[in-house]
Amino acid sequence: MDTENRALLMLVDDQPQNTRLLQLQLGHTHYEFMTALSGEEALGQLYGRLPDLILLDYMMPGMNGYELTKHLKSNPLTRHIPIIMLTALSDQASRVQALSAGVEEFINKPVDQTELWARVRNLLRLKAYQDQLAEHNQTLQKQVAARTHELTEAYRDTIYTMVKAAEYKDEDTGRHVQRISFYCLELAEELGLDEVFRDQIFYASPMHDIGKIGIPDAILLKPCSFNAGEWDVMKTHCAVGARILQKGSSPYVQMGAEIALHHHERWDGSGYPNQLSGDSIPLSARVLGVCDQYDALRSKRPYKPARSHADVMQVLSLGDGRTMPSHFDPQVFSAFNRISPRFEEIYQANND
Ligand SMILES: [Fe+2]
Ligand SMILES: [Fe+2]
Repeated sequence: MDTENRALLMLVDDQPQNTRLLQLQLGHTHYEFMTALSGEEALGQLYGRLPDLILLDYMMPGMNGYELTKHLKSNPLTRHIPIIMLTALSDQASRVQALSAGVEEFINKPVDQTELWARVRNLLRLKAYQDQLAEHNQTLQKQVAARTHELTEAYRDTIYTMVKAAEYKDEDTGRHVQRISFYCLELAEELGLDEVFRDQIFYASPMHDIGKIGIPDAILLKPCSFNAGEWDVMKTHCAVGARILQKGSSPYVQMGAEIALHHHERWDGSGYPNQLSGDSIPLSARVLGVCDQYDALRSKRPYKPARSHADVMQVLSLGDGRTMPSHFDPQVFSAFNRISPRFEEIYQANND
């Protein structure tokens, strides 16, 4: 109920003289009224400002008081409006029925003014408390949502800061990690993964190579291929990344740790660091694996030129000795094939 305004009472009775009498008994000055001559008419009036209380007659042609109550109590918009039903004292059966439909109070006909005042006032007070409580709950919910949003933004901010720091050492550019986010999001969507997963992988995937921070520049920035010893050092970037991220409490950083550790595992077990295969590789890492490989093949590196989308698609599906289709989760890979034109668009739109 609006405390500034007088309470709005809806009176529903097929006899206009009854609603007029009720208004007289309740006194024009205390309340505002709206009236309806049938259940149907009452339902038609329930929009905009809703009444604070409804008084309705049980016996009406068409929709009776019981049926109208059922309608009102099953609609979330009107469920909270208290209802007083007017019945003859002798009509016990309809009272039981009305009570089961959710009517709050009864008033006997003919209406006693004192009883009417008391019931109306008590129910309006109750309604006011309920409204206050609902308003308070809504405020709390909004506050919680705002805090959660702030916290999520703070997490994301931290991720970008870390990734930015790692970029100073890595051959991969910021554009690479941006594209990775977009690829992963598209692929997760095509795989039918839920919104939580999609949001997490979007922010977690840029952290996959963060462990390169721990690789000496002499190896990391070497323009030609590595010897065996250098390869072993290079491969530690997975464990280093996981160690950096694993204590993080946000779901983004947790997924980031999982991806960092496993993003070079391969479906056929030929990857590193743990030679995991198949489903034992976390899904996030399997999704990223395809995206990272696509982007690595496309991009120019000190030791190799960039390649076209068509070339890369051919390498990925036929294999070239280094990259083989058996490296990828078949389900993830076929989803990738279905939406590969999107990958080309993302690459073009986020290229240096
Ligand atoms: Fe990597
Ligand atoms: Fe990468």
